[in-house]
Amino acid sequence: MRFEAAPPARPRRLAIVEGGESAGEAPDAFALAVRSGLRSRPKTLPCRYFYDDQGSRLFEQICDLPEYYLTRTEDAILGEHADAMVAGWLADPVMVELGSGSSSKTRRLIEAALRAYGALHYVPIDVSKTILEESAEGLVRAYPDLRVTGFAANYRDALAGVVERFDRPKLFVFLGSSLGNYEADEAVDLLSLLASSMDPADRLLLGTDLDKDPAALEAAYDDARGVTARFNLNILERINRELGGRFDLGRFEHRARYRADLRRVEMHLVSREAQEVAIPGAGLTTRFDEGESIHTENSHKYTPEMLRSLADRSGFEEEAAWLDRRGLFRLQRWRLRSSRP
Ligand code: AVI
Repeated sequence: MRFEAAPPARPRRLAIVEGGESAGEAPDAFALAVRSGLRSRPKTLPCRYFYDDQGSRLFEQICDLPEYYLTRTEDAILGEHADAMVAGWLADPVMVELGSGSSSKTRRLIEAALRAYGALHYVPIDVSKTILEESAEGLVRAYPDLRVTGFAANYRDALAGVVERFDRPKLFVFLGSSLGNYEADEAVDLLSLLASSMDPADRLLLGTDLDKDPAALEAAYDDARGVTARFNLNILERINRELGGRFDLGRFEHRARYRADLRRVEMHLVSREAQEVAIPGAGLTTRFDEGESIHTENSHKYTPEMLRSLADRSGFEEEAAWLDRRGLFRLQRWRLRSSRP
């Protein structure tokens, strides 16, 4: 594994580790993904490409929308139960967060750990070095007893680096129902990777959105102010910006539909008319029929039984779970199953 520490010019309690076998994506990865997604039938685009600077800003706005109950509800559960969630560690704890982003909700857990243990080593993992640096600097400034070592890498490489550097009990944290953006088999792969990075004393705290009334789900992904629509359409803007694409955004419509059969909200971009769009940077001109869609995201919604089955398939067992009063969202703490597959 090739991890290099970035140059020091920052507080001693803060380090950003970059690299790994496949640090960052190949420069033409976006072009290849666009080419292959728009040539497949039905057309698709991978939702991880939502998050360029503009997309990340729009996502932050989504988290504050009245319809998008997920962030608020998870934060309320964390506010009420963070002390219990971090209880039971030995001294000198390490908290590793996957997809930490701005780390705003994690502050609840960080504060609870500092209350309980007096010190904490927080290890956020994110592909964006800029976001990692910004949030880590804010955190070390706010909490004098906190050390932060951020990993700017993909999950696989970062987890290998974490295992190599920290052999003390760790709490892994994966919030925001980000797991829901993976297909069931991919979710099991990611959770199994986590399980294989963990020791029996380690724990995983996982935040997941629960299945519920379709109207509430569709509103959460199609808000009245149109922020989610802009977030979805931003992927076409990104193609225009980065690949010289000629998408006319007005000719596509945002659509969010709950599929009860698959227990997920699907986001699509639907062509309002028959049209042809050139994307020189992807070496492609693609044709759309009127009403044809590009499938851009799945957001899976779970039942407690589905979550227990996911735990079982990936080598975990549930130790504790916390819900909000309305039963909208669930956080669960898992440990390695005593008899693993
Ligand atoms: C990041 N992820 C968990 C969000 C979700 O709810 O699936 C992304 C999102 N898509 C539309 N709104 C928010």
